[in-house]
Amino acid sequence: MVADHAIAVFNLGTTLLAIDAACTHVKGPLERGRIEGTIVTCPWHGSQFDLSTGEVKRGPATQPVKTYPVRLENGKLAIELP
Ligand code: FES
Repeated sequence: MVADHAIAVFNLGTTLLAIDAACTHVKGPLERGRIEGTIVTCPWHGSQFDLSTGEVKRGPATQPVKTYPVRLENGKLAIELP
């Protein structure tokens, strides 16, 4: 949780990516989703989102998820909120 935002952070090895944790379909837990490349699959109904852009790659979701700049600073995650 960051300032009342539930945010999921994914470590892709050399890259950190952060998105809203709630799927835009009916709020499934994207932090529990399966990752393939930069695509996360919602565990509830299978919507897929690009972690870099938030774009929907497969429905039933029709709206993108928000993405947030994230970086590691002195061993702590720093996430920029709008
Ligand atoms: S809640 Fe994510 S696909 Fe339905």
